[in-house]
Amino acid sequence: MNSNLQRKRSIAVFDSGVGGISVLRELIKIMPNEDYIYMGDSKNAPYGTKSKEEVRKLTVSCAQNLFSQGAKGLVVACNTATSAAVRVLREMYPQVPIVGIEPAVKPAALCMEYPRVLVMATPMTIREEKFHHLMERYENDAEIIPLPCPGLMDFIERGDLDGEDLKSYLGDLLYSYSDNQMDAAVLGCTHYPFVRRQIQQVLGEHVRIFDGGEGTAREMRRRLGEKGLLQSEDRHGVIKFENSLTDVSRIELCRRLLALP
Ligand code: DGL
Repeated sequence: MNSNLQRKRSIAVFDSGVGGISVLRELIKIMPNEDYIYMGDSKNAPYGTKSKEEVRKLTVSCAQNLFSQGAKGLVVACNTATSAAVRVLREMYPQVPIVGIEPAVKPAALCMEYPRVLVMATPMTIREEKFHHLMERYENDAEIIPLPCPGLMDFIERGDLDGEDLKSYLGDLLYSYSDNQMDAAVLGCTHYPFVRRQIQQVLGEHVRIFDGGEGTAREMRRRLGEKGLLQSEDRHGVIKFENSLTDVSRIELCRRLLALP
């Protein structure tokens, strides 16, 4: 393939909905010169309450679409889709940098001497083998408490980042872990960073909160660099948004989330 063409291609970022924007913003922070195609499958969201097979099928089909548009690499900016499909995608596209996201258990478990770590994620992520291995790896470093959060992503998909319903949902969900009982919390779903402040308020101000967005972005930069696929630094990248729900409000929500501080 012509190297000039290679330099022009975009980085694809995929999520079940708008949550992956929390990873896209980390990518843009460290690679503002790259072009991005952000694809959200909001029509089929949530993924986290589906079966692994269904999520795998949906993820593969979106990835095929993104590669047919000439993506030079793919960030699976969804913990759920990563556990269901990243291995299959790497087998299908062995030459292409494909980076998935997983709950940031490592930095949370190592942030102090034997912390109590709450891991918030979708039911599927927590059920999957990939997550069980991750927990086993750090079981001597921390007390790890997995907490499936069905329904939490729906607030973010609706653009409800601060409403009373969200507050009472979080109050009920986190009731047993509130008032600084935890040392750290992991946001193991890419939607959750958009309600980080609300989660912090319930868990307590001393709780350290981690998510995997920044590490994932760094890994993508490293993988693209290795293959000589990074853009030159003297340009500004372009971002294209796509969603399986075609109403414009979905794209507007993506832009709004990306613009949040
Ligand atoms: N954003 C996705 C994740 O990181 C999941 C949301 C969903 O259930 O679709 O796991």
